Amino acid sequence: ECLQTQNSFNVKAFSRKVLRPSNIEALQDIAEMAEVIEQHFYILGEGSNTLFVDEQAPLIIQPKFSGIDIIEHDSYFSVQVGASENWHNLVCLCIEQGINGLENLALIPGSVGAAPVQNIGAYGVEFADYCHEVTFFDFSNKKVTALSNHDCQFGYRDSIFKGALYNKGVITQVTLNFPKSWQGKTSYHGLNTLPATATAKTIMDAVIQLRQSKLPDPDELPNAGSFFKNPVISEDEFKRLQKDYPSIPNYPQANGEMKLAAGWLIEQSGLKGGIYKDVGIHKKQALVLVNYAQGSGKDILSLAKYIQQQVKAKFNIEIIPEVRMISVLGEQAFTAFNH
Ligand code: EPU
Repeated sequence: ECLQTQNSFNVKAFSRKVLRPSNIEALQDIAEMAEVIEQHFYILGEGSNTLFVDEQAPLIIQPKFSGIDIIEHDSYFSVQVGASENWHNLVCLCIEQGINGLENLALIPGSVGAAPVQNIGAYGVEFADYCHEVTFFDFSNKKVTALSNHDCQFGYRDSIFKGALYNKGVITQVTLNFPKSWQGKTSYHGLNTLPATATAKTIMDAVIQLRQSKLPDPDELPNAGSFFKNPVISEDEFKRLQKDYPSIPNYPQANGEMKLAAGWLIEQSGLKGGIYKDVGIHKKQALVLVNYAQGSGKDILSLAKYIQQQVKAKFNIEIIPEVRMISVLGEQAFTAFNH
């Protein structure tokens, strides 16, 4: 099966087998497959954070668990959602129903099942803020278990699904809880001109506008959103950098470390808007790599390596992809690709 329309970079890749389980029995069969036991597979949602670096892709497991159930309690709403539902549709549905909380996360591409894996976040809100439970089918005992918010070990673009549970099973459903007492988050630059009385719908519309003004629509210009994670460095390292670059954007972390803006580092390295044959660095957001025409996974990978080297040479900071690199053997670490 050709996966070109199944990845938002629109690169050509082919898999000999694509499985779309929609019930537990199907997952139990999958758990016994040699490719799964040998870990030569990839779980694909909507392909908006995935780069197929080879034309050959491994076994693809694309969960098809659908459905959205809303349960109203006295002080909160509980929303149970199947992993294959579209994230932005969920956000819109909640806001329409008067269930507030996800407005800042509007227009993030991808499926609901992918949201906990990298703890999606934008404009001061992240998935973890509303996650109650994640339902997970475990390949080893062939059973479904529920992980609490705490169990998920959420961090910045991180969770247990990238750690101890990596490749150990499939997320089938998530449960989100939304307290009825709600206070909109409008402190992020671009939203801070909204009035304190702004409704969730108003905030959502502002977020949509903000994203559309900077981030290319993957349907028009193939991309996978932020390509790199924002790097986190020590306070000492930051102080040294700030001397040379007084205007460097910075976000202090709870533990004293400092998060920097990778987009700024790339722009300051002189790379923003660069075009390299069929691929390039977006002219409005340097953190986004785009595929202008028939660029291959290898072309994007080479550009990413080049950006990483240039930023390292200028700032001595190693930026690491948020996008996942898939070869015929399954997911590979960025460091595994030598240049
Ligand atoms: N900046 C530049 N040049 C650029 C891009 C950004 O100087 O080309 C500067 C901006 O001026 C600003 C700072 O960098 O001072 C941060 O930029 P922005 O607000 O656009 O956010 P970001 O850090 O680049 C992160 C997330 C986005 C999320 C936005 C808004 C990551 C890796 N990215 O981007 O998430 O939408 O904040 O909250 O954390 C994604 O993960 O795919 C994604 C789009």
